[in-house]
Amino acid sequence: MTASPIISILNGPNLNLLGSRQPELYGRETLADIEVLCRAHSVRLSLDVEFRQSNHEGDLVTWIQEARGRAAGIVINAGAYTHTSVAILDALLAADVPTVEVHLSNIHQRDSFRHHSYVAKAAKGMICGFGSHGYVLALEALARLIKGSSQT
Ligand code: DQA
Repeated sequence: MTASPIISILNGPNLNLLGSRQPELYGRETLADIEVLCRAHSVRLSLDVEFRQSNHEGDLVTWIQEARGRAAGIVINAGAYTHTSVAILDALLAADVPTVEVHLSNIHQRDSFRHHSYVAKAAKGMICGFGSHGYVLALEALARLIKGSSQT
């Protein structure tokens, strides 16, 4: 039996507070709930998920570097680092792993400083505004991309 492709799901600062953090914006689900959701869908899509969160930019950079040559895809919600981190952008460009950017909220309906994303420059696409379902949509997008690339 061949191993399922690995998808690295990376979550940035303050996402550990989901459930109690501004629920009007981010919903009532915790990050652990989102992990359960992702794991359930990964089984359906024959993917193997690694799910991580850190409040530290350097951890996210290291995990992106580790994905190079190992993971078939990255799903990243970089939180506020989305709007500030050239280091995360550079790591994603160097990793050369298909990446889908996710945000729970619709960042384009919020403060203007949230409209720009450094991550977007390295991502195949961005999903925002669908809450936790955005992670499911990202996994589906990556599953399709991976399947497409293995057929060529
Ligand atoms: C977020 C949006 C960011 O602007 C914010 O800093 C977050 C969460 C989202 O999932 O909607 O921490 O990435």
